[in-house]
Amino acid sequence: MERVGVVGCGLMGSGIAEIAARAGADVVVVERDREALAAGQARLESSLSRAVASGKVPEAEASEARANLSYTTDFTRLTDRQIVIEAVAENEELKTEVFATLDKVVSDPDAVLATNTSSIPIIKLAMATGRPEQVIGMHFFNPVPVLKLVEVISSLLTSAETTARVHEYASGPLGKKVITSPDRAGFVVNALLIPYLLSAIRMLESGFASAEDIDTGMVVGCAHPMGPLALTDLIGLDTTLAVAESLYEEFKEPHFAPPPLLSRMSQAGLLGRKSRQGFFSYKA
Ligand code: 3HC
Repeated sequence: MERVGVVGCGLMGSGIAEIAARAGADVVVVERDREALAAGQARLESSLSRAVASGKVPEAEASEARANLSYTTDFTRLTDRQIVIEAVAENEELKTEVFATLDKVVSDPDAVLATNTSSIPIIKLAMATGRPEQVIGMHFFNPVPVLKLVEVISSLLTSAETTARVHEYASGPLGKKVITSPDRAGFVVNALLIPYLLSAIRMLESGFASAEDIDTGMVVGCAHPMGPLALTDLIGLDTTLAVAESLYEEFKEPHFAPPPLLSRMSQAGLLGRKSRQGFFSYKA
């Protein structure tokens, strides 16, 4: 995988592009407009600089990664890619549109078309293309350069060869630990994580405990790196809501149903760290 494409340069896409470029691939990053592209590039640059400042990444590796990256709003620049990883917002219509476009522009007949979706069935995105055997889920965790897991999700139509190539790429050059999941909403991790986050939001909404006490309880009492409300702020309330809705739609189990507070805060634009206000406030 020497020629990689990443579609979407938000929280997840910028992290995926960063690790792919650090692994030595030529990476083309596509965003919908110039503004989103500039914001994504700034996010990636700030992550790389922090990695260098903390001694995690040598300056030479960061410089090489910068040289490996190019940014564009032109999808046709993906034509010669061997793998394209889609990481746009968690919206089925939008992702389906991206896959239909990738099917048209990516000319390598062996190219892998991967999605970082958290919850949308891989088969639905695969069926938007004429090559469903090459479509697969590659689900990364935020922050991508720091967290070592990738869930690999094959649909009913993904070929064994595509699955093997993606396993090899994620665990080799990208240095991730791979687990496999069937093509069910939420896969392994979010099917467990989302009900926990929703329970914390219900606890806050019902007045059972304060946001600070809920988070302190889990950080100090259970040694989690962050509490569930701070984690929801990190993931984004809009993304958490979208994943909960997909899980609820698939399984119809009450513990997946999004609490009204989550919906109202998302509708109000209180999305967590990315909007500087969620369950907690964040400085610019
Ligand atoms: N490359 C490599 N390393 C980097 C880096 C980069 N670009 N940027 C930062 N680092 C290193 C730092 O040097 C630091 O290393 P150290 O611990 O050895 O000093 C480490 O990564 C942590 O960095 P931070 O400075 O940001 O420090 P924190 O200690 O505040 O940790 C956190 C923040 C990593 C977010 C931690 O709190 C954490 O792991 N939280 C849990 C996050 C989590 O659960 N994510 C999963 C969300 S679910 C998801 O993504 C799925 C989706 O579908 C919903």
